[in-house]
Amino acid sequence: MNPLASHLNELIEEANPRVFEMLSDIGKNLFFPKGILSQSAEAKEKAHRLNATIGIAKEKGRPMVLQSIVDSITGIMPEESLTYAPSYGLPELRSVWRDALFKKNPSMEGRAVSLPVVTNGITHGISVFADVWIDPGDVVLLPDMMWGNYNMILSVRKKAVIRQYNLFTEDGGYDVDALAESLRHEAAINDKVTVLLNFPQNPSGYTVTEEEAERIADVLTGTAQDGTNLVVVCDDAYFGLVYENGILRESIFSRLVGRHERLLAVKLDGATKEDYVWGLRVGFITYGCEAGGDPALFYDALERKTAGCVRGNISNASHLSQSIVLKAMRDPDYEAQKKEKYELMRRRAEKIKAVLADEKYASAWDVYPFNSGYFMCIRLKTVDAERLRIHLLDEYGVGLIALGETDLRVAFSCLEEDDVQALFDIVLAGVRDLEG
Ligand SMILES: Cc1ncc(COP(=O)(O)O)c(C=O)c1O
Repeated sequence: MNPLASHLNELIEEANPRVFEMLSDIGKNLFFPKGILSQSAEAKEKAHRLNATIGIAKEKGRPMVLQSIVDSITGIMPEESLTYAPSYGLPELRSVWRDALFKKNPSMEGRAVSLPVVTNGITHGISVFADVWIDPGDVVLLPDMMWGNYNMILSVRKKAVIRQYNLFTEDGGYDVDALAESLRHEAAINDKVTVLLNFPQNPSGYTVTEEEAERIADVLTGTAQDGTNLVVVCDDAYFGLVYENGILRESIFSRLVGRHERLLAVKLDGATKEDYVWGLRVGFITYGCEAGGDPALFYDALERKTAGCVRGNISNASHLSQSIVLKAMRDPDYEAQKKEKYELMRRRAEKIKAVLADEKYASAWDVYPFNSGYFMCIRLKTVDAERLRIHLLDEYGVGLIALGETDLRVAFSCLEEDDVQALFDIVLAGVRDLEG
């Protein structure tokens, strides 16, 4: 093992031996390399005369550029867009994102979390998370409706075992008992269990109520207290898009940080969906856990391992993208612009609820509970979902996502309010066609 990795392991083990146990084999071996990166960082500070360290090209003291490239980038200097960003991400962006995390989650005040490490979007965040914390055979608990890519990242690539529990109770709430039962079962046979929580949820568009969030946090804390190491990873891709009262507005991460030494909370979020910049690929990983001694040293060690993982994977995320997001977050109009788009999304969700209240749809489908995010789902009663999907495409030019035999997912994020009624009427017509 590299001595730098051993040193980080010692720091982590000293602050919280349980978290050290939770690291995957790769995680234990990860470190942030000194080599070229730290030598160039030193040179940046001290090599005032000639600095020939880093693998970029320069001309007259500035990055070498092609005019045809910079012509497309207005308002951001080549130094802030075309050069490499650090593997950790831009320091200013990391601290602005962390400040925003505290602002968006006021109950976090006074609690220590790591600085976010930048990833290439949230998918990459999940993948980096899995490298650092998941060994082959580790159990990951997920609800039976989930984003399909978890399977690719966790099961196919990392060989984790995904165990699913029932998502919704009969009366349309989160099935916390099913989660608790599944957790109890896995905790009895595993020293470590990973629980992935995703609110607002893909595909259902559900976010837990305040009360359900408390119950989930209590169940998780109880399991940790009983001696199981728990890695709880919160995929907050759709954070902030909650449209109803009584629903959890903060991240469930805020209910978990500092609850128990055996409970490591990991927050994955990003600008992707929150700031409507899907192609920029800016995501973040943030850690929160009890740590003895100076938490700064503990978090620094986790950040080093995580950034080392990024370094060995994509090296670093797009400097241009990070600068665009940073600039936007510093724009005095940023919050107002976000509010405006939030209202647009909220009105679409409301419109769907109003349209689907019509009894005429009741014989064709049930509506899954939804109150947030980009999506909602219906459960078909009489026809096969994939058959209907193809039929709607071929006969009506309407595209929806079929999930399993009965479910259709509607992305109202890309549906104008005025098209909602027409969409569901077409789906109903399609169902009637197939019923014959
Ligand atoms: C729950 C969830 N997490 C993560 C992502 C991916 O986010 P990104 O585009 O930042 O990789 C998605 C995208 O569909 C998602 O639905």
